[in-house]
Amino acid sequence: MSAPIPVEQFPRDYAAVVIGGGAGIGEATARLLAARGVDVTVADRDGDAAESVAASIRDAGGVAASAACDVTDEADVRAAFDGAVTRCGQVHAVVNSAGIQGPLGRPSHEVETADFERTLAVNLTPGLTIARVAVPHFLEQGYGRILHVASIAGKEGNPNMIGYSASKAGLIGLVKAQGKEYSRAGITVNALAPAVIRTPFLDSQPPSVIDYMLEKIPMGRTGELDEVAEMIAFVISPAAGFTTGFTFDLSGGRATY
Ligand SMILES: NC(=O)c1ccc[n+]([C@@H]2O[C@H](COP(=O)([O-])OP(=O)(O)OC[C@H]3O[C@@H](n4cnc5c(N)ncnc54)[C@H](O)[C@@H]3O)[C@@H](O)[C@H]2O)c1
Repeated sequence: MSAPIPVEQFPRDYAAVVIGGGAGIGEATARLLAARGVDVTVADRDGDAAESVAASIRDAGGVAASAACDVTDEADVRAAFDGAVTRCGQVHAVVNSAGIQGPLGRPSHEVETADFERTLAVNLTPGLTIARVAVPHFLEQGYGRILHVASIAGKEGNPNMIGYSASKAGLIGLVKAQGKEYSRAGITVNALAPAVIRTPFLDSQPPSVIDYMLEKIPMGRTGELDEVAEMIAFVISPAAGFTTGFTFDLSGGRATY
C-alpha cells in the first residue's frame, strides 16, 4: 500500500493575526500556525514580547511580523490588521487571546465598578472592535475566521471572579450573535472555553491552588498549550467551514454541553 498523500491544513499564503500572541495561549497558537505555513502577525499590548515571538518564528524558518497593539484601542487593532493586509495582501483569520483576570478573590459587593468595567473592556468589547476592523475585509474576500478565547468561567461562572466570568459569558453570547450575522458570507465566528491550561503563571501557583483548580476536571490534569493551539488551528482553518457561533470545549470532560 502506498503512503497517504499528506494534506496541508492551510492553503499557501494563508495569513492570520494573533492578538495576545506575546505569551501563553496566543504565543503557542502563533508558533503552531507558523509551523503549518501560516503568515502570522503577532500582536500584543507588550510589543517587545510580540516581536520576540515573531523573531523566534522567523529564526525557525517561519514567516511572522509583530505589532504593538492594545486590544482595547480600536486604532491599534486597525493598525495591526491593516498592517497585516498590506504585508500579506489578504488576511484570513483573527485569533483573539488577549485577556485579563480582573478583580480576584472578592465577592461582587466588594468589587469596584471601574475594575469590573476594565475587565469588560479587555475581555468583551474587543469582540465588537475586532469585527468592526476585520469583517469589512472578510466580506470583500468572501472568507474569514474569527476565534475568541473565552473560558469555562463564562459557561459556569467562577465565584469571586465576577468581572472575568461576566466578560467571558458576554463573549460567548457575542459569538453566538455574530456567527449568525455573517453565516452566509463565508465568515465564521467562534469561541473556545478552556478550563485550566498549563502556563508559566500556573506553574508559579502553590500546589493547594492547583489542586483546587483540578478537582473539577474529570481528567484530573490541566490542559496543555499545544492542545489549545491545535484546536484553534482547526477552528480557523478552511476545514472548519460548517461551525459558527459556537464555543468549543477544552475542559478535560468538565463541560459536556
Ligand atoms: N491559561 C488558562 O488556564 C486559561 C483558561 C481559560 C481561558 N484563558 C483565556 O485565554 C486567554 C490567554 O490566556 P493566557 O493564559 O495565555 O494568558 P497570558 O497572560 O499568558 O497571555 C495573555 C497575553 O495577552 C496580552 N494582553 C493582555 N491584555 C492585553 C491587551 N489589552 N491588549 C493586547 N494584549 C493584551 C498579554 O500581554 C499577554 O501576552 C485569556 O483570554 C484568558 O482569559 C486562559
